[in-house]
This record gives sequence, C-alpha cells and structure tokens, in this order.
Amino acid sequence: MTLYRATFLHTPANPFHSGHALHTEDDGGLLVQNGQIIQSGSFADVRAAHPNEPVEDLRGGLLLPGFVDTHVHYPQVRVIGGLGLPLLEWLDTITLPEEAKFGDDVYAAAIAREFVSGLTSHGTTTALIFGSHFASAVEILFQESSRAGLRAVAGQVVSDRMLRPELHTTPERAYAEGKALIERWHGQGRNSYAVTPRFSLSASEGILEACAALMAEFPDVRFTSHINENGREIETVRELFPGSRDYLETYERAGLVTRRSVLAHSVHPTDRELGSMAEHRCTAAHCPCSNSALGSGLFPLKRHLAAGVHVSLGTDVGGGTGFSMLKEGLQAHFMQQLMGPDGVPLSPAHLLYLATRAGAEALGLEGQIGDFSAGKSFDAVYFRPPEGSIMKTVLNHAPSPERALASLFAGGTQSDVAGVWIGGDVVYSRHLQT
Ligand code: GUN
Ligand code: ZN
Repeated sequence: MTLYRATFLHTPANPFHSGHALHTEDDGGLLVQNGQIIQSGSFADVRAAHPNEPVEDLRGGLLLPGFVDTHVHYPQVRVIGGLGLPLLEWLDTITLPEEAKFGDDVYAAAIAREFVSGLTSHGTTTALIFGSHFASAVEILFQESSRAGLRAVAGQVVSDRMLRPELHTTPERAYAEGKALIERWHGQGRNSYAVTPRFSLSASEGILEACAALMAEFPDVRFTSHINENGREIETVRELFPGSRDYLETYERAGLVTRRSVLAHSVHPTDRELGSMAEHRCTAAHCPCSNSALGSGLFPLKRHLAAGVHVSLGTDVGGGTGFSMLKEGLQAHFMQQLMGPDGVPLSPAHLLYLATRAGAEALGLEGQIGDFSAGKSFDAVYFRPPEGSIMKTVLNHAPSPERALASLFAGGTQSDVAGVWIGGDVVYSRHLQT
C-alpha cells in the first residue's frame, strides 16, 4: 500500500448538474492498494486510519485524475499543425497521404511509440483512439498500449469510398478484420475495442451494417465516428444518403447511435439530431482546438446541454493542435466566452470534469476511473512545474486550489507534468525522461 500526500482536485459529480461538484483537498491523502484507491480524504484523516503505510510526498504541486481524451487519431501524430485548411481539403492534401503510410509496419511501430508516449506524457491515462485503416497497424498500436500500460479504447478505421484506394476496404473484410481484432484485444489488459467507421461520407450502408453486426455480436465494445463537423462534409453526406433526414440518421438507421457511441465534433447539429442523441444517450466529443484550427465552427454546448446530450472532450490530434487536454479545456473556455449569450461560462470545475470524469462516463468507465473516490483505479497526473518557471510562481501564489487549477488550465504544458500513474503503475515520470 502507498499513501499519496498531495493537493488534489477532482469532480466526483457533474458540475453542469451540481454547484458542488469540485472536490479539493489542500493537504489530501489517497491510500492506494494494488492500483486501487481504498481511502480518499484529508491526509490527516487517512493517516490517522493508516499510521504505518509508506507515504509518497507529492506536496508542492497539483494531483488530478488522469485525463480521458475521447477523440484522438493515432496515425496523425506527424500532421499536427497543418493549419488553415478546411476539413475535406486537409484530409485530401495532408492527412490521408500520411495515413496511407501505415501499411508499412515499421513506420506504424515508430508512430505507435510516439503516439502512446504523447498521450501519457501529457497526463492522458485513457483514450478513445481512432486507429488506422490497416489491421496490422492497429495490432501494433494495441501492442504498444499494452507495453506502456495505457487504457486504450481503440479500433480499426473502416471506409469504402471517397478516400483513396489504399484506405478502402469492403463490408466483408471490415467485419472479418474487426472480429479478429476484437477477439484478440478487447478486454486484454487495459485495452478495449471501438468499432470505428471514419464518417458517413466515406462509408456505404454496407460498411455501416458490418459495423452494426460487430456491435451486435460483441455487446460491450464501443462505437465511435465523426458527425456534423464542416458545412461541405454535411452537404456531401446529405447527397450520399437521400433516405436520411440528417447526418445522425445515417448512423441511426444502422442502429449505431446508443449509449456505447461517441460522436466527435457535432458543431452543426439540428434540434432533431440533438433530441435523438439525448434519447439514445450517446456522447458528443467536443474538440475545440481542432474546430478552431480547421475553421469548423463554434461548438453549441448550450444546445447540447439543453437537449440533455452528454458532452466530453477530445484533442482530435492531428486536426487538433496537440495532446494537451489542458489546452483543450482552455480553448473550450475561450470558445464559449466568445459565443456571448449563446455560450456557456466554463469554470475550472467544468474544465476538470470535461477532461476527466465526463470522458469516463462517455466510455462507460465511470465506475473505474475519472475521479479519486474510493474504489476507483489510481489513474493520476501530477503537475509540478519546473523550478524557476513562471507556472511555478503562479501556482505557489494561487490563493486557493481552485485558482491554481484555473492557472494550470490557462498556462500548464507537458513540461509541467512530473508523473503519471495508471492503475497505480508509473507510466511517465519526468525524472526518467532526461
Ligand atoms: N472526419 C473524417 N476523418 C476525419 C479526421 O481525420 N479528422 C477530423 N477532424 N474529422 C474527420
Ligand atoms: Zn477526428
């Protein structure tokens, strides 16, 4: 057993529903046994109950639950920063040519390492990952996530039109390769599987049916795709699916909109779509840096919340600008602020919730991860800015843990991450890096 002593903050409740969702411990204690938190509270209380356990002293920083990135693309690490193009041009000229390289296992293995270490070194402990179109590259990703100890929910991306021939499959092959990957990796260690058609624009009804067959056969795999990101994309989907009233219905007709589904972006939904997303209890993964970088638009958070749609946060690397969930929180805050009366003011509690527990809920993992309550896995990120850095002085002078949290979202970066744990295992430590 280890007793971690730290200033910690977490959101065991949903701040969009409760005014008291943020829980802070200035001098807190988390007792961890076999990777699980067995007592959570003030250091004094936990110490009194367990006077003899070894203490790991993490004072002088902030300990947060590990981040849950609910939308990130493994084969896009090296296209981060392709700024200034709208979605479809960005896909054609920058991203799909890069993704075509993943037929080469040696290349895929190199990027899998960059990708997984990109996540863990930024404090992300669980991620819903858009894999590669190539089954072997997805295999390589799962091998790497297993080696690193990441909680990966990932799947092979499938498409059968409108991309480029190397990236196309058939419904039969999509089903067979998906089934083989699920049987090999779903539930293995910390890995699980997500059925992943790229988007309706690149999916025939046949491919969506193959996805539905996998969802029916394996009732606890997850589902993810993209929706309503960009005007031209939406228009093209409308032309391709004349039998569907809107974008959501292309997935809905195949039975792919359920509580197991996470749909990324949802920047331009209709009221009907929001109502149906709420009814089916699927999640919208908001990716604010990507939406800004690709000029996709302003995320209508207020409409999602009013309709009762669950919302989580994603980096969308490489449409997004990097692996930092702090940066996504900040950009979400900026975006809502700039929307004036149509925006939702986001407090530090909202940002922390969106970056942690909301993602756990999106993935059906809220019983295991997302906050520091007793019974949860010890998945944590420890921020301790380097000596002499501005962030160090800012945090040292913060008048409260909540203000320190706001400062961290405003200015924290990867170099402030001092340690990351998943299930009690150290998966990243700044001291081991140099
Ligand atoms: N829609 C289909 N593919 C993609 C992708 O790779 N990134 C984003 N942002 N949107 C998509
Ligand atoms: Zn995406």
